[in-house]
Amino acid sequence: MSAVLIRGGTVVNADRQFRADVLCIDGKISAVGDDLQAPAGTQTVDAGGQYVMPGGIDPHTHMQLPFMGTVAVDDFFDGTAAGLAGGTTSIIDFVIPDPKQPLMDAFRMWRGWAEKSAADHGFHVAVTWWDESVKRDMGTLVQHEGVNSFKHFMAYKNAIMCDDETLVNSFRRALELGAMPTVHAENGELVFLLQQEVAKMGITGPEGHPLSRPPMVEGEAANRAIAIADVLGVPIYIVHVSCIESAEAIARARARGQRVYGEVLAGHLVTDDSVYRNPDFTAAAAHVMSPPFRPKTHQEFLWRGLQAGSLHTTATDHCVFCADQKAAGKDSFAKIPNGCGGIEERLAVIWDAGVNSGRLTPSEFVAITSANTARIFNIYPQKGSVSVGADADLVVWDPQGTKTISVKTQHSKVDFNIFEGLQVKGVPTTTISQGKVVYSNGELRAVRGSGRYIKRPPFGIDFDAMKLRAQVTAPTAVAR
Ligand code: URP
Ligand code: ZN
Ligand code: ZN
Repeated sequence: MSAVLIRGGTVVNADRQFRADVLCIDGKISAVGDDLQAPAGTQTVDAGGQYVMPGGIDPHTHMQLPFMGTVAVDDFFDGTAAGLAGGTTSIIDFVIPDPKQPLMDAFRMWRGWAEKSAADHGFHVAVTWWDESVKRDMGTLVQHEGVNSFKHFMAYKNAIMCDDETLVNSFRRALELGAMPTVHAENGELVFLLQQEVAKMGITGPEGHPLSRPPMVEGEAANRAIAIADVLGVPIYIVHVSCIESAEAIARARARGQRVYGEVLAGHLVTDDSVYRNPDFTAAAAHVMSPPFRPKTHQEFLWRGLQAGSLHTTATDHCVFCADQKAAGKDSFAKIPNGCGGIEERLAVIWDAGVNSGRLTPSEFVAITSANTARIFNIYPQKGSVSVGADADLVVWDPQGTKTISVKTQHSKVDFNIFEGLQVKGVPTTTISQGKVVYSNGELRAVRGSGRYIKRPPFGIDFDAMKLRAQVTAPTAVAR
């Protein structure tokens, strides 16, 4: 038997906070209450003056991703270990088949890579092409493999971009299966055109990256995906919402009664587009990700969306490339591998900028870093909740603790930190994963291969009724 007692803290869930001890036995939370007694041999964690929260869930990571001619440097062990050091105990990563690659082949490949994971994990599966085998494999993934979400890249033309035909077919199939379609919303045709036009203007450095991906390019794709989902009557989740244009599209659709969910990256909340004007290529290229960092006005809008509940989750899109990999785009910004890190820093950055500033309450923090993701992707309350029977994935959080973020002290293998020099107040002191202490006051004890694959069941909805409703409302949706 393994047992850990967290004594004297304040439990924070998405709905309330209260003083309680938390007892974890054999990987589950077995009691939450006052003055709990622990069996002999129980490890005790003193949480006096601290918060006890559900471990973070990062719904958007790319460990070991083969992308733009190279491979992301954090593998599933490195990346999840870094997450544990920052209080994140679960990730949902992405299986991304090449066009024409069978979904099941790609799924098995990614499952193999993830065997070294130090934290629990699941997968969204990308639909990058369409035929009857894709339709069939989507069914197998949902019914037998614990996948309940499918990803659609509306950008990355000539690579993994999917066209409207694929979007429509896949969204409809997702509805049939009780799965959630998700989209990377950027109009890939416009990006392709603008990349060439910006290059023709003689701009080849990283400063060309945001010029080729302006906010309206994201807004157009978000509106299109939302409209397709509305016509088909399927819910939709939009990843890495970075700007006013797409955040407004989501808020508008929700005000009309549509089930639309929005995810925001920690980086987009605190970093602005000035990073691309750094004359040092290495530093500017290290920030090249899509959608790009935006002018400051967009950040405040994203915060307000999280406050208002029109944006729901936070993630990192952790997908890291070293300087030598980014150098592939020395002569053309369009060739810089897209991706940035943040899995270790997400909770501290959002606590510092969100809770310390008064934008978020501690319970709202738990909602947007853990509970909402668990709910939206149907693993709540196994994950995302400090309650009896839930997985013992917890973070003990010191709201007075401080830290200066730096590449020198991070656990990720990448050679850059987009939050370098940021001083944060509010840090994890202990992380518990599957009922075991895996991080304690600077000491990381991540265990390679100890992370489990977490199956996510399909959504329990009355599909016939949903389809009927879609038929009834589609003409109105089109006419609006
Ligand atoms: O730039 C990014 N975001 N890289 C990872 C792939 C994606 O678009 O999510
Ligand atoms: Zn993306
Ligand atoms: Zn991504």
